Amino acid sequence: MIETMVITGGAGFIGANFVRHALEHTSYRLLIIDKLTYAGNLASIEDVLKDERVQFIRADIADREAMQAAFREHHPVSIINFAAESHVDRSIDDPGPFIQTNIVGTYVLLETARKYLINLSAERAAGFRFLHVSTDEVYGTLGPEGLFSEITPYAPNSPYAASKASADHLVRAYFETYRLPAIITNCSNNYGPYQFPEKLIPLMLLNALEGKPLPIYGDGGNIRDWLYVEDHCAGILLALQKGKPGEKYNIGGGNERTNLQIVDRLCDEVEKILPAAENSALQQLGRNSYHELKTFVPDRPGHDRRYAIDATKIREELGWRPVFDFESGLAKTVAWYTANHSWCRTVMANRYHGERLGLGK
Ligand SMILES: NC(=O)c1ccc[n+]([C@@H]2O[C@H](COP(=O)([O-])OP(=O)(O)OC[C@H]3O[C@@H](n4cnc5c(N)ncnc54)[C@H](O)[C@@H]3O)[C@@H](O)[C@H]2O)c1
Repeated sequence: MIETMVITGGAGFIGANFVRHALEHTSYRLLIIDKLTYAGNLASIEDVLKDERVQFIRADIADREAMQAAFREHHPVSIINFAAESHVDRSIDDPGPFIQTNIVGTYVLLETARKYLINLSAERAAGFRFLHVSTDEVYGTLGPEGLFSEITPYAPNSPYAASKASADHLVRAYFETYRLPAIITNCSNNYGPYQFPEKLIPLMLLNALEGKPLPIYGDGGNIRDWLYVEDHCAGILLALQKGKPGEKYNIGGGNERTNLQIVDRLCDEVEKILPAAENSALQQLGRNSYHELKTFVPDRPGHDRRYAIDATKIREELGWRPVFDFESGLAKTVAWYTANHSWCRTVMANRYHGERLGLGK
């Protein structure tokens, strides 16, 4: 019998990559549940939807009846919760949707799973997994030294991080109180194909290709630990299959870079694919290098200075290893965006035009 895995947020960046990963590496039937907000688009899973193992439901994870109906009808053996409002800048401008989806939505999924398990056999209930995908931002900010481990206390600084931290606490509580077999993964900044072009790497990449300014927040010295999305997907699947209920696992690429280093590296990668001298958008501006497009802009309020993950636990206990180093992952990402301009146009149409977000006005 082919078992069903529910994937919420499967039309978003990491979800769309995960669905492909799961089709290749497992035999599950996949039920994608996605509200299709501005950040989710069927264009990201067009090919996937043709696969007979995939079904799609457009629904809000905070819609209790819709979630219960999906569980009743599809009898899943697991659920992976990717669905979220995910952009820190937007959470500064309007925290409401973050509270609703990230906290209330996760609560509704937990309740749905809890009630669903009551009617399952003990064996099937014990085999069920609720995997909640979270972020390293729940831990707050680091100084120049140290790494976030699974026992680092939570200290979220943005409304986004606080909403994810709240959801993590609920997931933990459902394990402790109801023994819901739940696992949490906290990962660092992902990059790769299908990321909505409001996030640093695709935004800078598209702006560079179009000869637009490359806006760098503050002094550009904020550090993130970059993880290629395919490595993240492999870690999630491993945590689902081998992880222990009640545990959390940090997933990080071990690639610390300042935002300025990222933008400089991107400029170099774009130069390899389309030299500035051959890009008419730059030539019209009289620019001879992508680096000349860099523009320093006011910082994000409450901008965490440094995140870095200690991934020892998932490495040692589950055998996870990232396959992509930052240079190869970034080269793949630049090649993908350059070849998929029509996807960028489709997902951005009437939704986002590269404007500055997150000044809290
Ligand atoms: N992208 C990263 O670097 C990163 C890092 C750490 C953790 N995460 C976490 O990973 C998960 C996926 O992130 P992402 O970058 O793919 O996000 P994304 O914004 O690209 O995609 C989110 C998806 O969730 C869907 N969605 C939003 N609200 C919904 C709702 N109420 N009901 C159903 N679907 C809804 C959207 O339509 C979209 O398809 C999130 O939980 C995020 O917090 C992301």
